[in-house]
Amino acid sequence: MGQRIPPTVAWSDRMGGTVRMIDQTRLPGELTMLDCRDVETVARAIERLSVRGAPAIGCSAALGIALAAHRSEASDLDGLLEDLESAHERLAATRPTAVNLFWALREMRRVIDARAIGDITRLREQLLSRALEIVEDDLNRCRAIGRNALELIPHGANILTHCNAGALATAGYGTALGVIRAAHEAGREIHVWVDETRPLLQGARLTAWELCEEGIPATLITDNMAGYVMKRGKVDCVVVGSDRIAANGDVANKIGTYTLAVIAARHDVPFYVAAPISTVDYDLASGEQIPIEERASEEVAMLGHQTEQAICPDIAIFNPAFDVTPCDLVTAIVTEKGVAGSPYERSLLNMRDSPNDSDEVGGIDG
Ligand code: MRU
Repeated sequence: MGQRIPPTVAWSDRMGGTVRMIDQTRLPGELTMLDCRDVETVARAIERLSVRGAPAIGCSAALGIALAAHRSEASDLDGLLEDLESAHERLAATRPTAVNLFWALREMRRVIDARAIGDITRLREQLLSRALEIVEDDLNRCRAIGRNALELIPHGANILTHCNAGALATAGYGTALGVIRAAHEAGREIHVWVDETRPLLQGARLTAWELCEEGIPATLITDNMAGYVMKRGKVDCVVVGSDRIAANGDVANKIGTYTLAVIAARHDVPFYVAAPISTVDYDLASGEQIPIEERASEEVAMLGHQTEQAICPDIAIFNPAFDVTPCDLVTAIVTEKGVAGSPYERSLLNMRDSPNDSDEVGGIDG
């Protein structure tokens, strides 16, 4: 990301500990920081999408637990553990689909469970240090995903992406946009088709903004134009992020992703998913079991973040935030450990169990 842009979400020691994040609801018009001084503010920021994108939600939750520990007024360990438990519950209730949230909370719980008996100060330090590690690891993972995807992105490629899986959706660099950034940095002279991504326009507001900041050639289209540009042979591959991947390789991502995958299959356009291993939910056999968040009808009724009534006030509204793309429509899943191909049950398991980043774990021919 360009020099002048602050981290998506970070810890600040100011005022006894603060979680500082970019308020993404104000972008691209204003680059405003939101300082969260308690867990409730972090939770609301996740719910209202001030911070959004699966890995960034996970990082925020981890920092939220560290914040709860720092802000707790408990004088003994039992009191602190009670405060941490309610922080955990509140954060876990924010958004149901992105598994990175639950992964990060589990990581923080591990620190709590392994605590030194009775030592509150030490536990506070350990929680902060694990949260900072989660944030830093996320950035490194995104860079590794970008490197691993280079083999899939040819010189001059036209890449279509949906929603925002960029630096703003992660600790930095991005997953799908990390792939795009890495190709650009490698001098591949790519061009990006940016789906606007209704209802909240993460593509038009956030991905477009990141690409313009980076000087990566890009063109914005409305969601319903993707089929047309593919039919005209103007798309070489689709690259998207994910909120949760089932053990069989079914992929939950922003609503509209499934439609894109179907159109891509129709036009023989490869459909790639870029995500860290922490996005894979090995406990779910298939995407059928992934909980899909439904959000407020106002998001559909308004355009972008405008508040005036833009559509018929009497119509019923359905607003699922995500959909699930079946694994047979996914050409490959790129993680920090390599490129996984079908059958995903096997390649994703191999990937989880392989010790090193960027190992060969069953390429896209299986
Ligand atoms: O509702 P959002 O904006 O949180 O949805 C975000 C997405 O769907 C992203 O594509 C996904 O979280 C991957 S982000 C690296």
